[in-house]
Order: sequence, then structure tokens, then C-alpha cells
Amino acid sequence: MASTPTGPIRLPDLRGRTALVTGASDGVGVEIARGLAGAGADLVLPVRNRDKGTRAAESVWETAPEAEISLRDLDLARLDSVRALAESLRAERAPLDLVVLNAGIVLLGDPERHVSDDGFELHLQTNFLGHFALTTALLPLLRERRARIVVQLSLAAGVSRIAWDDLQTARRYSALRAYGASKVALGLFGYELARRSEAEGWGVVVHLSHPGVVPDTGIAPAMRARDRGGPGRALAERLGNTPAQAAQPALLAAVTIDPAPGFFGPTGVLHFGGPAGPVPRYRRLADPDAGGRLWAAAEELLRDRADAVRA
Ligand SMILES: NC(=O)c1ccc[n+]([C@@H]2O[C@H](COP(=O)([O-])OP(=O)(O)OC[C@H]3O[C@@H](n4cnc5c(N)ncnc54)[C@H](OP(=O)(O)O)[C@@H]3O)[C@@H](O)[C@H]2O)c1
Repeated sequence: MASTPTGPIRLPDLRGRTALVTGASDGVGVEIARGLAGAGADLVLPVRNRDKGTRAAESVWETAPEAEISLRDLDLARLDSVRALAESLRAERAPLDLVVLNAGIVLLGDPERHVSDDGFELHLQTNFLGHFALTTALLPLLRERRARIVVQLSLAAGVSRIAWDDLQTARRYSALRAYGASKVALGLFGYELARRSEAEGWGVVVHLSHPGVVPDTGIAPAMRARDRGGPGRALAERLGNTPAQAAQPALLAAVTIDPAPGFFGPTGVLHFGGPAGPVPRYRRLADPDAGGRLWAAAEELLRDRADAVRA
């Protein structure tokens, strides 16, 4: 599908399809949910804050009053929560046609390194490991429906690296390093999932997206407070996307039929904003050796954690 010169992309009829969107209680995720509901999709929205989730659902109903919305509980920073959601969806044999891995945090402005209750650096777990655990636990359902997965990255994924000997950013921590590494991990996972699906005939299709720069979402309040009136803020406001515009690359990814993983983002200056379209992929993320290594590392981290809980 080609990029659109202006305005939202035209989605095909999604009636009868079910889409799960993480991080739909705020920001870009609400707009992804709104776009999918507007095209007729039923929504499963796992949220960590039910009040915010209810407000988001009400906001979607303002533009798509017929939408079927099922709010669920999910805290990606708690593996027991991820497991509980996956188990309940599997028990119901939920018909998932689309999963958008959109939730994310970046703790800019906070110099302290945070660790989840599961013992993982918080960006790593929220942005990557939680999504890895959820997606792999849902694979039987996803294979059944030959589902599509949309992996929401960031411009940071194109300029960041993973330190293989320091996956948890314990050395030289900064929020931006940890965030960038978590988005690289998420990207490597996306491409590796696509490769495994093709090799094993799972029928699961993966596309990747990034929203550009979206100055008005909830993601970096400390940064915004510090930067108010500054040149960074002015540039982000001039070139960046509104949440509704920023949802378009993920929506384009969600309805792209090509089975090979595509990468979609804003096509304007510096890819900060502008109409959604295909954009050059970040080649390092598609490296099969790194993808395989990352998948094995994630499995090991989760296994070690499970062993620790059992001990
Ligand atoms: N804004 C930008 O400039 C920008 C740029 C590049 C990439 N992105 C990416 O775009 C995606 C959406 O970001 P946004 O700008 O819309 O940010 P946002 O407004 O802060 O929304 C983030 C969403 O993720 C959810 N979330 C955070 N931690 C979670 C957890 N532990 N478990 C479950 N859900 C959790 C939040 O839930 P709560 O409502 O409970 O907080 C919220 O729904 C993220 O992946 C982000 O990395 C954003």
C-alpha cells in the first residue's frame, strides 16, 4: 500500500477481525485502537490501569460507537500478569487476527536505573521481554488465525545498540541507552519471529513500524517539563506528529498484505512526522544471527526467572 499524501490511511473492512493492542490506554495506542475500531475490528485492549483503559474505550466509542471493546489487565513489567492474560486468552480460544505491540516506556529525565519486581531493567522488560513473553505464549492462537503482528519501534532503534554482555544496562546506565537497547531487542525479535514463522510454516506475518516523534503523548513527561520552550521542543512540535498521525504507520503495517516484514514510519523531514509510508528498514535489526541470539537470550532470562520463582 502506498503512502498517503495527507490524512489517515483508508483501512479495508475489518469487520469480523479481532485486534489486540497493547498500550492503548494513552497516546498513540488509543489512536491505533480508534483506527482499527473505525474499520470494524473488535478490540482486545490489555491495560495496566483500568480507569485509563475505560476512558480510552469511551474515547474510541465517540468515533466508533458500535465497536466491541474488551478491556483486560496487563502489566508488562510483571511476568505473572503477562502469563495470566495469555492463559485467559488461550482458555477462551480468543480469535486474534492482529496483535499490535505498542506499549512502551522511556524514563527520560530520571537518572536512576529501575528494576521490575521480576528483576529486569524496566525498559527491557516493559518494551521487549514482556512483549516477547506475551507473543510467544499466544503463538498457538496466532498460528491458528495466521495472525499479523505489528511491532512498534522508535527512531531510537535505528541509532542504538544492544550490549550483549550487558543486556540489562547495568553498566553506564542512562534511560536513553536502556530505551534504545530495548527497542533494538524488540526489532530483532520482530524479524526473528518473521523468519521462524516462514521456516516453520506458522503463517504468522510480522510488520514493523515507528510513530516518529510525538511530543504530546504521556511517554516522557520529565523531558517535556525540562524542555518546555527549548529548541528541542520547538523542533519536535514543528516536525513531529500528533498522536493520530503517529498511529498511521502502525495502521499501515496492520493492513499490509505482503508476507515479508515491512517497516513503516512517517515520511516527512528526518522521519519525525508526515504521512505514513514504507521507510528504509534498520538493517542491523534484520540480522539473522543477532535475531537468533536475542531470542535465545530472552528465553534464558525468562527461564532463569521461572527457576528463581520455583526455588
Ligand atoms: N511519543 C514519542 O515521541 C514516541 C517516539 C518513538 C516511539 N514511540 C513509541 O510509541 C509507543 C507508544 O508511545 P506513546 O508515545 O503513545 O506513549 P504513552 O502515551 O506514554 O503511552 C504508552 C502506553 O504504554 C502503556 N504501558 C506503559 N508501561 C506499561 C506496562 N508496564 N504494562 C502495560 N502497558 C504499559 C501505557 O499505559 P498507562 O496508560 O498505564 O501509562 C500507555 O498506554 C511506545 O512503544 C513508544 O516507545 C513513541
